[in-house]
Amino acid sequence: MPAATQTTRFDDVTLEGEGLSLRPFTDADLDAIAEACADEETQRWLPLPRTYSRDDARWFVQTFAVAQRDSGAGLVRAIEVDGRLAGAIDLKKTNWTARTTETGYWASPWVRGRGVTTAAVRLLASWALTDQGLERVELLTAMGNTGSERVADKAGFQREGIARNAGVIHAGRVDLTVWSLVPADLIPTPDEAAAEPGRR
Ligand SMILES: CC(C)(COP(=O)(O)OP(=O)(O)OC[C@H]1O[C@@H](n2cnc3c(N)ncnc32)[C@H](O)[C@@H]1OP(=O)(O)O)[C@@H](O)C(=O)NCCC(=O)NCCS
Repeated sequence: MPAATQTTRFDDVTLEGEGLSLRPFTDADLDAIAEACADEETQRWLPLPRTYSRDDARWFVQTFAVAQRDSGAGLVRAIEVDGRLAGAIDLKKTNWTARTTETGYWASPWVRGRGVTTAAVRLLASWALTDQGLERVELLTAMGNTGSERVADKAGFQREGIARNAGVIHAGRVDLTVWSLVPADLIPTPDEAAAEPGRR
């Protein structure tokens, strides 16, 4: 008889970083989500409902985020800065056999340009590769999304190439740049280690 399939899931954690935390969403976040997801720049790069409503935010928190974790497919976290919702970040399309996952994110307009998304990506991806035993975190940026490319690069991801015609945004189909972070990328270079002796 075949062995029963075991669903592997991410730990339901809150991760603390410098000046930010990654925590589960709650209903108290609904208005802030609706506002950030209606923002023009967010709408430009993510295929979210066009008129993003509080009901869309409720579905995201109460249905999507819960299903992602329960099914083992991923983990959705709120980025919190100074007690305020600063964005969303997730892991998705996780393959527990191949030990691969993908990350995605948006930042609330008020926090942009302060390095918060870069820090959040590095924190969540490092955790996935260390605590959760994964071997590869993928990140896909739509062609022309300079801000997201900067985040990927500054968070230590390596640019691998182009997935042609692989993405969909409101403007239509787009090529995606494929980035990845693997455990070897987390080992500090000798210069980094010398600058920060406490680091592994
Ligand atoms: C892309 C996005 C997440 C960046 O968030 P952020 O919190 O501003 O990012 P950071 O502050 O960590 O920025 C990292 C770097 O990118 C640069 N950057 C951010 N937005 C930029 C933009 N629109 N154009 C050029 N550079 C940008 C920052 O200046 C910083 O570089 P620096 O440290 O050399 O100055 C945010 O603009 C956003 O939510 N966009 C809409 C949704 C989206 O594109 N999601 C990603 C889909 S793949």
